[in-house]
Amino acid sequence: MVRVVDLTLRDAHQSLIATRFKTEDMVPILDKIDKVGFYAIEMWGGATFDVMVRYLREDPWERLKIIRERVKKTKLMMLLRGQNLVGYRHYPDDVVEKFVEYAYRDGIDIFRVFDALNDVRNMRTSIKKAKSLGATVQGTITYTISPVHTIEHYLKIAEELVALEVDHLTIKDMAGILDPYTGYNLVKAIKEEFKVPVDVHCHFTGGLAVATYIKVVEAGADFIDTAISPLAFGTSHPSIQTMYYSLPPEHRPSVDLDVVREISEYLGKVLFSKYRELLDVRVFMPDPNVLEHQIPGGMISNFLAQLKQVGAEDKLKDVLEEVKRVREDLGWPPLVTPASQIVGAQAVLNVLYGRYQVVAKETYNYVKGLYGRPPAPVKREVVEIVLKGDKPIESRPADLLDPMYEKCRSEVSNKGFYAKEEDVLTYCLFPDVAVEFFKARLQTVASKTRDRDIWDEILGY
Ligand code: CO
Repeated sequence: MVRVVDLTLRDAHQSLIATRFKTEDMVPILDKIDKVGFYAIEMWGGATFDVMVRYLREDPWERLKIIRERVKKTKLMMLLRGQNLVGYRHYPDDVVEKFVEYAYRDGIDIFRVFDALNDVRNMRTSIKKAKSLGATVQGTITYTISPVHTIEHYLKIAEELVALEVDHLTIKDMAGILDPYTGYNLVKAIKEEFKVPVDVHCHFTGGLAVATYIKVVEAGADFIDTAISPLAFGTSHPSIQTMYYSLPPEHRPSVDLDVVREISEYLGKVLFSKYRELLDVRVFMPDPNVLEHQIPGGMISNFLAQLKQVGAEDKLKDVLEEVKRVREDLGWPPLVTPASQIVGAQAVLNVLYGRYQVVAKETYNYVKGLYGRPPAPVKREVVEIVLKGDKPIESRPADLLDPMYEKCRSEVSNKGFYAKEEDVLTYCLFPDVAVEFFKARLQTVASKTRDRDIWDEILGY
């Protein structure tokens, strides 16, 4: 019997409605979600943290506590970008450790940890900290297709993760390009080599995920990741019902599909009333073209926007071809944040101005090794032209960073924003956005107090 991780409250709405699902709209169904029989729900991390602070003006730590209060049986999972936590750059170890500590303290049971380049050195600090607290850790292998990404290559990454005593291994197919038979062979190989449960996370983008899940379960996968419709399919994940009926009876998960239907009806109502303007038909449909060019849909719309700015929309085809070459030059990074942005931006520059005539700062930092070690070495001629004689670093990128937690702590206190220890972490991660968020929070508190004073006066208390 396969067990299920439900992604509705994190990846599903991140993939389909730009991560905008509000806590107030989650609360009414939390007790139902807790009753379905999921092994875990992924409900925090990834882009949710940034989007909440920046756009929803919600406190991510409060969401975590609210969900924890109401979801008592089911384990809570978060997606953690290794040394990047829930941000886009490397943070020093002291911040990483504190973040994991407070996420665990506020309710996270399972940390799913990944690194865009599969550089396990970037995952070590968070994995070790989570393990030391007693949390469950999923060590994640980011899946991509390239000449260097063979089964043996993935087995080496798995071996490094197992050496860190991760509880599960997760195969993360963010682009939706893992085909059923490669999935089968990959899971089979991992299960034969290691005695560690395997979770497979596929997006539906290429239309393959249902078939791939059937084959990976056949190969012995212990967990699959699904979502509840209408936040399923498209660039999200197969629905739980579809997977239930796709699997042979002996593998079907033990879930209450009546409760799933109730949640699904609720989500439908809320989405079509409150989130209507965010519903974009393009992300709700699979895009099989991704199987050919392997370029995530978000990247293509970025290219179009960038090319439009300089009046070069007709160059899109050249840029897509150049992406393949840049990816090869840079040692075949998986096209996931931040590598997708780096490869994409440099490909546009190469097409517009000639190959590496203009080098983006991010490309320089990547070649310098500041994001970690690429899957294969960067081509030597590209190292020379980009670094101009500079040498790439050999160490783990975070080894170059000074501790910053205490400094952030006194800044938050001095500015009068400190309400709880977690505020320091929000500030460490996104200093500018956090200040705006704290100011907005103070205003809300002030206006609420004022309202109360007025009512007190009117009512004569
Ligand atoms: Co995902």
